[in-house]
Amino acid sequence: VSLRPFNTFGFEAKARYFVEVQTPDELRNLLLDPRWKEVPKQILGGGSNVLLTQDVEALVIRIGIRGLEIIREDNEYLWLKAGAGESWHNLVLHCVQNGYAGLENLSLIPGTVGAAPMQNIGAYGVEIKDVFEELEAVEMHTADLRCFDTAACSFGYRDSVFKRALKGKYIIVSVTFRLRKQPVFHVSYGDIQKTLADMNVQVPSIEAISEAVIRIRQSKLPDPAVIGNAGSFFKNPEIPQAQYEALRERFPELPGYATAPDTIKVPAGWLIEKAGWKGYREGAVGVHARQALVLVHHGGGTGQQIRDLAEKIQRSIEEKFGIRLSPEVNFL
Ligand code: EPU
Repeated sequence: VSLRPFNTFGFEAKARYFVEVQTPDELRNLLLDPRWKEVPKQILGGGSNVLLTQDVEALVIRIGIRGLEIIREDNEYLWLKAGAGESWHNLVLHCVQNGYAGLENLSLIPGTVGAAPMQNIGAYGVEIKDVFEELEAVEMHTADLRCFDTAACSFGYRDSVFKRALKGKYIIVSVTFRLRKQPVFHVSYGDIQKTLADMNVQVPSIEAISEAVIRIRQSKLPDPAVIGNAGSFFKNPEIPQAQYEALRERFPELPGYATAPDTIKVPAGWLIEKAGWKGYREGAVGVHARQALVLVHHGGGTGQQIRDLAEKIQRSIEEKFGIRLSPEVNFL
């Protein structure tokens, strides 16, 4: 089965076997089925954060579990439970349209609900952990259903327990969000303030913030339907304060944000641009012209070419700044 329609880079790779499940029970039955017991399995959500570098010798399970349901509410909050296979942006639009606040800054992020907590998706000052209540996941071998609260997920910057200790061990089937009836706006991010001003918005609303985020993303990030990509290819590196200060001697305009005492996060996009890669093209692959953190596939290329380009960029950033970039995208 070709995985090309199932990865936003648009790379050709074949899955040995492929199946889509619609319910948690269908998934559990599949995992317990003796015919599939010994076959390696690979989970696929929206395919918006993976790099396929070769054919996948496994049973690829696409999670098609749907559903959006309010399961509880009080005076302040609503708890919305979403199936892992729902499109992330459709979930956000559903909330914005119904006045459920909390997800508006996370508008237009590609991918599915189930993939979102794995890497604690975040944008414009909000991360999924800020609105997260709990998730349900199925254990790969026993097919047991387990509930994870915020602490059990060990969220970090683009990180969770599902990328570390429990990597490959659980399949997320639903996520429950705690959303506010009265919004609390997150508008400190410079691009948001500027865009709201451009939109002539004096008093923010969740609709206006969602719209502003959509405009910002559309202006910087390539639409995967037009140019293959997986959003930010690298994480923004966190470096010791002393290293940051030494770098500032050489690069006075280097941006940086304190994330912990003695730790500064610097934008990888800035480093990559400064090293001369922005808009670079090498055959079918390249670096996006409007956001250097995004690697792009113009068509007809391979995942291996992106991997080679990523390695060149890593070496170049290491030589110029002494910083090792880590990929944000998962290699498969
Ligand atoms: N910058 C450059 N050149 C570039 C790109 C960025 O100089 O080519 C500088 C900008 O001028 C700015 C800083 O880098 O000072 C930050 O840029 P931006 O606001 O575009 O955000 P980012 O740090 O590049 C991160 C996330 C994005 C998220 C935005 C907004 C990561 C790895 N990426 O990007 O997430 O949308 O912030 O919050 O943390 C994704 O994960 O796929 C993604 C798109």
